[in-house]
Amino acid sequence: MSKFVIKGGKPLKGCVSISGAKNSVLALLPATLLTDKLCEIDKVPNLKDVNVMLELLKRLGTKVEGIESEKVRIISSELTSHEAPYELVRQMRASFYVMGPLLAREGVARVAQPGGCAIGARPIDLHLKGFEALGAKIEQGHGYIEARCEGRLKGAKVYLDYPSVGATVNIMMAACLAEGTTDIENAAKEPEIVNLANFLNSMGASVSGAGQNTIRIKGVKQLHGTQYEVIPDRIEMGTYMVAAAITGGDITIENVIFDHIKPIIAKLRECGTQVIEGADYSLRIIGSGRPKAVDVTTLPYPGFPTDMQAQFMALMTCADGASMINETVFENRFMHTAELRRMGANIKIEGHSAVVRGVDTIQGARVNATDLRAGAALVLAALMASGTTEVDNIEHIDRGYVRLEEKLRALGADIERVCD
Ligand code: EPZ
Repeated sequence: MSKFVIKGGKPLKGCVSISGAKNSVLALLPATLLTDKLCEIDKVPNLKDVNVMLELLKRLGTKVEGIESEKVRIISSELTSHEAPYELVRQMRASFYVMGPLLAREGVARVAQPGGCAIGARPIDLHLKGFEALGAKIEQGHGYIEARCEGRLKGAKVYLDYPSVGATVNIMMAACLAEGTTDIENAAKEPEIVNLANFLNSMGASVSGAGQNTIRIKGVKQLHGTQYEVIPDRIEMGTYMVAAAITGGDITIENVIFDHIKPIIAKLRECGTQVIEGADYSLRIIGSGRPKAVDVTTLPYPGFPTDMQAQFMALMTCADGASMINETVFENRFMHTAELRRMGANIKIEGHSAVVRGVDTIQGARVNATDLRAGAALVLAALMASGTTEVDNIEHIDRGYVRLEEKLRALGADIERVCD
């Protein structure tokens, strides 16, 4: 087990480069199963979750090269397995994304049923509803889900009761090789969905409407290889933006896609942080004094991202006033509040809402990262806290942030990784 030891109180200054988006690449990698030709993906972030996905593809028979660099070459000329084993799915729920491509290409997929996680039950009913609409037969038993279809999947209309990112990803991939047209209604609109649609189209698919309410996929017989680049990670970007605000620092981020972080820019400006959009797609964030308390409600894109809720709460712990934070996407995504309270924060949870009353300062303490974004929030709080903080279980953080301590040290943070 490893921990971060952080001495707070230093304003962060300088430039930070953003890595490829974890939640995009975790969809692009399984999408390569839809072709037996070579796919080259650039800007692949070297993250634990990405390496688990690459390991899973290799178990299915895919040849993978270049894991150590950001440029990965993948070819699934023939698949030797249709099963995603429990020991990989339990490590990373997005392993479930292989179900759609396997079903489309091979007519069968057997995937360990992903369990819940710290932030919620994480059901997959909408994924399965989509596969059944496309003609698959689903069987569940002994902790596994098996989907089968005789011949090709058939295009269909699929209404998502909730604009689920994962269900949209899985159904979009399955529909690419179906016979006929599929409409995914009430689809997720996240940038990662648009990135996947563009990736699939670069392979010869016919996907339109990504980023809008209805995505239309006209099935084709086969897809070819492609060369593609992952979009920058908007949540990593938002995390460094909060790092500038919470330390009263001055950070510049390059190659920013402003559209992807509009709600984060808006909320930081509302609390008094200066956010300057450069003509060269750079973004300069200047933290100025004590932030004003503002309310936040997490929503599916283009609303304020749930993956930034914990980080923003860290910023609100010392804000001027009281902030109401409503978490509407996941049912248990306040695990970080107990740990922030150990640092002196004043936070009261009422159901899906947290009232954060700003205190003058928070103190360094020994705290525990319960999940990826909660861990990021604790690091941010530690950067502001007076004294030293130890953040345990940083394996959670390694799932979603490339070289976090290195990038923070380059901005002037006093942070060390200590292996227990
Ligand atoms: C993706 O998870 C992301 N993960 C999450 O990022 C992100 O928080 C989430 O989308 C929302 O933006 C990846 O992309 C790998 P959902 P996903 O399906 O697909 C309910 C991070 O920190 N739902 O949009 O699992 C579900 O219970 C991670 O990087 C169903 O009811 O999210 C939840 O309440 C955390 N039935 C809501 O939808 C289903 O079949 C949103 O889930 C599927 C989902």
